[in-house]
Order: sequence, then structure tokens, then C-alpha cells
Amino acid sequence: MTDRYAVIGNPVAHSKSPQIHAAFAAATGQDLDYGRVLSPLDGFAATVASMAAEGYRGANVTVPFKEDALRLAATLSPRARAAGASNCLRFDPDGLFADNTDGVGLVADLTRNLGFALKGRKLLLVGAGGAARGVLQPLLDEAPAELVIANRTVDKARALAALARKGRGQLVAVCGFAGLNGERFDLVINATSASLAGEVPPLPAGLFAPESLAYDMMYGDSATPFMRWAGGAGAEYVSDGLGMLVEQAAEAFLLWRGVRPETAPVLQALRSKALPGKPAQPKQ
Ligand code: ATR
Repeated sequence: MTDRYAVIGNPVAHSKSPQIHAAFAAATGQDLDYGRVLSPLDGFAATVASMAAEGYRGANVTVPFKEDALRLAATLSPRARAAGASNCLRFDPDGLFADNTDGVGLVADLTRNLGFALKGRKLLLVGAGGAARGVLQPLLDEAPAELVIANRTVDKARALAALARKGRGQLVAVCGFAGLNGERFDLVINATSASLAGEVPPLPAGLFAPESLAYDMMYGDSATPFMRWAGGAGAEYVSDGLGMLVEQAAEAFLLWRGVRPETAPVLQALRSKALPGKPAQPKQ
């Protein structure tokens, strides 16, 4: 019988995960079916229970259920626990296993696809919500020289930094946007949800060091507002988060199937069909 997987979300119709996993399955010769499941906002647990009863083997979880997914699980991976959320569930015989592949997906996109080494660099993480929390520890694990978390609500940045400080206190600083005046970074990651509203966080000019990369964890059919802003504000390179999406999917595929698919052909195909830009496009 063909193994079944799906992405659960609300909304979920826009998700590219079915395309990505179908391409991985074809490339690795794995027999699986991957669909979309729209869960009622107040019915995530019931949705997961009925999927388990129907014999699903795993699921990706997207907005707004990543924290619910963590709470439902019988077993958590260390990276899901650190992220405080799960984007990836496996339906094991002894219960639900929750993992989080977002952070490792971001790091893979930055280091492998974009060729941006994080070690010794100065990083700015903009935002302190779930998206930022999901990637914080994996970024720190790459040993940057410094990581600053800047958020509109500084208290939330402080709370996030406090989680990361356990064991890695030396690296993490916190501020509001105005506190960034005069600072320069090698990498600026937008982990806010501002792009959803077509907005850009009010960051000061002069943030970008020479050869710097501006990375938006969001993606769309064209450059995001943050990417456009960063290109004009002095970033040498800009990237959306499509590569992160493909890389987190590859890690989920590995968790479920024991095989890590090649990501480059899938990312290339997605970009040629849906996205005009190239990764880390040098600005004009
Ligand atoms: P997610 O899970 O996507 O991170 P979230 O937990 O609601 O969503 O967090 C959203 C993040 O985007 C927060 O850091 C939020 O800032 P606040 O903590 O001050 O609310 C940030 N954000 C959303 N819209 C923003 C905007 N227009 N400008 C700056 N930051 C914004």
C-alpha cells in the first residue's frame, strides 16, 4: 500500500510541499502519496487523530498549528523542543513523534545553496516570534561571532534570547529597531511576519556590511518587500526563503523515509516555474 503524507495548515491551498515531496519521491524511487489537509482552526488534534486512524505515516505542519503539533506529540526531538514548535510529525506505532526541520533547512540553504558560511560572521535576526525561535539554535550552532535579535517588542526578543542563552550566553544580544543604528551585519534574516501585510520592519539604513546577505524567510512569486528594501539599502545579495522550504522538506523526507533527496533540481524547477529571481541575486 502506498504510504500517505500531507501538509496540515489553515490556509493550506497555497502550499508547495506536495509538489516538492512528489519530486523527491520520484527522484528517490519512494512509493508515497503527499497531499494537503485543511484543518479547522479549533480542530487540529481531531484532524491529526483522524489522519492517524486512516493510516497516514507523517505530516508537515504549517501556520498556525506548529505549536499545537508540539503539544500533541508523545516524543519530541531535541530540535523541536528548542524551537518550541514542530513542522514535521511522524506517526509512529507508539505515538506521535515531533521534529523541527525549519532551522536545519535555513542553515542548509544559507551554507550549501547560497555558499554563505556562518562561522565567525555577525548575524541579525529580525523578529522574535515562532519563526525566529525555530531557527535561533541552529544558527547559533554554526558558531557566528555574534547574533543580535531585534524586535519591535523588545521584551519578546529578550525572552527569546533567554531561551538560547542556556549554554551559549556569549553570543546573543537584544535590541529594538532603533538600537541598531550604527551596527553593521554580514547577514540580516527577516523572521517577522511583516511581509504578509506587504510591510517591511522599520530597520535603519546602513545595516549592511560589504558582501552582506539579506535573507527573507518568506517567499512569493516575486521579490518580497524586505528583499526590495534590502537591495536598496545596501545589501550585496538578497534571497527569499524558497530554498529553506525545499531544504526543510528534504530533512522531513529523510526523517520519514531514511533517504535524503537532492534538493538542487527541485529548487531549480520551482524557481524556473514560479519565481523569476535567482538565489542570492547580486543587486544591480
Ligand atoms: P511567526 O510565528 O510567523 O514568527 P508571530 O509569533 O506572530 O509569528 O511573530 C511575528 C513576528 O513578526 C514578531 O516578531 C512581530 O513583532 P512583535 O513581537 O513586536 O509583534 C513581527 N512583526 C509582525 N509585523 C511586523 C511589522 N509590521 N513590523 C515589524 N515587526 C513585525
